[in-house]
Amino acid sequence: DLARDLTGRHVVVSAGGTREPLDPVRFLGNRSSGKQGYALARSAAARGARVTLVSANAALPEPAGVDVVPVGTAVQLREAILKASADADAVVMAAAVADFRPQTYATGKIKKKDGQEQPPIALVRNPDILAEIAGDRPRPGQVVVGFAAETDDVLANGRAKLERKGCDLLVVNEVGERKTFGSEENEAVVLGADGSETPVPYGPKEALADTVWDLVAERLPKNS
Ligand code: C5P
Repeated sequence: DLARDLTGRHVVVSAGGTREPLDPVRFLGNRSSGKQGYALARSAAARGARVTLVSANAALPEPAGVDVVPVGTAVQLREAILKASADADAVVMAAAVADFRPQTYATGKIKKKDGQEQPPIALVRNPDILAEIAGDRPRPGQVVVGFAAETDDVLANGRAKLERKGCDLLVVNEVGERKTFGSEENEAVVLGADGSETPVPYGPKEALADTVWDLVAERLPKNS
């Protein structure tokens, strides 16, 4: 049954955007709403998969029948993804992960002081979770999917990123005003490590989610 083609599979999806705290009231974050990741989770569940949704700061209703693991920071997201990926058939990293986090966390609120220079914020690199999972493949035959938002040379930058990360599929978005962040619609090209290019026309995030699962399903080993 094509409609339930992910029955018996465990898939892991990350959604939302990480927040890297500076002090108890401030963080470095990004504009990801989580809507694309949630659409991916709903679509996979509808197709019969067991779904673990690692959700970073998304203010969205929990999809029915999906195991939601809430996280805040990139380091927490990594822990949750590594744990859930051990037996996963596919891992889709739709979350916007902060590339950097503040080097130190101030346990008290950072205060402005008269006559003082702006304090610099020292940053350190966060781990690249997608590259780590794609390199390690906790489960043999696991299909690993990344997302990339690009502003220029979308296809060339996407192809280079797919190779750098070592994933099987990379969903490349062109970042624009009405597209992508917070909207209900998306437009993308899904690049495959096998050289394939699947354009997904402007439309609901559900449609892109279904195309991603079509491409994942084609790549899953039979009867794992
Ligand atoms: O390098 P860039 O941030 O453009 O890559 C985006 C892709 O990599 C997304 O799939 C995102 O979830 C993932 N990523 C990650 N860990 C990071 C940064 C990005 O897994 N530290």
